[in-house]
Amino acid sequence: MNVKENVQQILAHFHIEQFQHDLIHWFQTEQRDLPWRKDKDPYKIWVSEVMLQQTRVDTVIPYFYQFIEKFPTLDALAEAEEEEVLKAWEGLGYYSRIRHLHEAVKEVKEKYGGCVPASKEQFSSLKGVGPYTTGAVLSIAYGIPEPAVDGNVMRVLSRIFYITDDIAKGSTRKKFENIVSKIISHDNPSDFNQALMELGALVCTPKNPSCFLCPVQRHCRAFAEGIETELPVKTKGKAPKRVSFRAIVLMNEKGNILIQKRPPRGLLANLWQFPNDEHAPTRNDEAFVKEISERYHVVIRSLERIGSFEHVFSHVVWHIEAYKGNALELQMGDETNKWVTIDELKQYAFPVIYQKIWQAYE
Ligand code: ADE
Repeated sequence: MNVKENVQQILAHFHIEQFQHDLIHWFQTEQRDLPWRKDKDPYKIWVSEVMLQQTRVDTVIPYFYQFIEKFPTLDALAEAEEEEVLKAWEGLGYYSRIRHLHEAVKEVKEKYGGCVPASKEQFSSLKGVGPYTTGAVLSIAYGIPEPAVDGNVMRVLSRIFYITDDIAKGSTRKKFENIVSKIISHDNPSDFNQALMELGALVCTPKNPSCFLCPVQRHCRAFAEGIETELPVKTKGKAPKRVSFRAIVLMNEKGNILIQKRPPRGLLANLWQFPNDEHAPTRNDEAFVKEISERYHVVIRSLERIGSFEHVFSHVVWHIEAYKGNALELQMGDETNKWVTIDELKQYAFPVIYQKIWQAYE
């Protein structure tokens, strides 16, 4: 059976209009009051959807307010320096999201006069814009009936339709997009998509779904079979790799601190950090001091341990032993290795683990 036949079969006895009505009616009465729901500005919706991709609503809210205050329009963001944009994203993680968004809005400013394109082809060709962002922005801001399928929506739909395909697979997402294309309300695609997201956040939660409060319980096949908590099926990825290394907060005689810009590609690209041996972890303090002294052209005159710090990324876990020390600089800084005052340091975007090291240092 091909995908199309399979989707047809899944939807064969499904009451689409009744489902749309039950879902949207619930959303219109029960939705949360969220800052990006105050208007339909496509730029703001886009920012919110990018922030929400890997981050929880509660975490996103203060960042969203702060970001929109700093960059109230698409043009303002397009014209901003990368350093300032990264600083506004500091702590949200998955920094390629913001680098891509920044590039994308620059393109929108140049090519489309700052107006977010309402065409699927044009919008989805922008940097960092995948099928989810396309569907979310076009449906919410412009009322275009495009599916917006993320992990939460897949959980909801796998239960409603009793679908046991592995949601870690790309083909499963396509299947769900196919289904949503068939069941989405053409009268109100914005509320329909947001209602699926809202249902996943408030009712159809991963561990203890509140089926007795669910507005679409009567449509739910998993509930009828009593197997809602066994769905969705998701195979586990590889366990993240553990990487242990050292880092050091160095202060010179003037009271300046040495910071270094990370490379423009890869994990935490273009963020700032303290000197470390991430790429060639040393075995002991002596080797560490030698490595750092040579690489950063400093004489380290004291070494004191600050503590151990850990951060879990999606594919790797960092374990950093942090130190502080006094140093003599043998060479002036440059664009990527800077000696900055403690006040200046606050203007640079640091990964959370380095912020914690700084707090412990202070
Ligand atoms: N998760 C992703 N997009 C969302 C939205 N627009 N509202 C609430 N939660 C979301």
